[in-house]
Amino acid sequence: MKKILTALVIMVSLVHAVELNTSMKEYMKTLETQAQKENPKFKGFDYIRGEKIFTTKYIGKKGKLISCVSCHSSDLSKKGINVNTNKVIEPLSPLADSSRFTKVKNVKKWLRRNFRDVYNRVGTAQEKGDVVTYIINKK
Ligand code: HEC
Repeated sequence: MKKILTALVIMVSLVHAVELNTSMKEYMKTLETQAQKENPKFKGFDYIRGEKIFTTKYIGKKGKLISCVSCHSSDLSKKGINVNTNKVIEPLSPLADSSRFTKVKNVKKWLRRNFRDVYNRVGTAQEKGDVVTYIINKK
């Protein structure tokens, strides 16, 4: 019975998973290879670590406590507000906006900028992979 339940849970979660396009899959693969080089104990990207990166507050670039949530909100299917410019940000979740996580160039650019905004440095390959894993799978 337990096995059947587990199988069902896995099937349901697969149905809801977002399928990345080929270039995004390649980007994730590159991050994975890099993460393995940086950390021999690396065992794949992790949703929980990604959640922590996304929700943790840090003294950011402007010297104020900020997190990814500050601009993108904690409900990724809702619009956010850019705390620096007060401009509306469309939902980050690809479940809410299918244009999200389709252009590698865009994803790279914003991960670079936004890690600097929050953590005052660029993210490691593992951190980037973890946070993307969190964002694209968050319901
Ligand atoms: C100061 C506000 C702000 C903060 C803080 C912020 N972002 Fe963003 N983010 C933006 C803006 C502005 C854009 C670009 C506009 C858009 O895509 O709607 C963006 C875009 C993105 C994108 C592009 C996704 C795509 O495919 O279009 C990703 C990924 C992203 N942010 C992740 C993060 C992560 C991870 C953090 C925390 C480390 C974070 N953001 C923190 C403002 C912010």
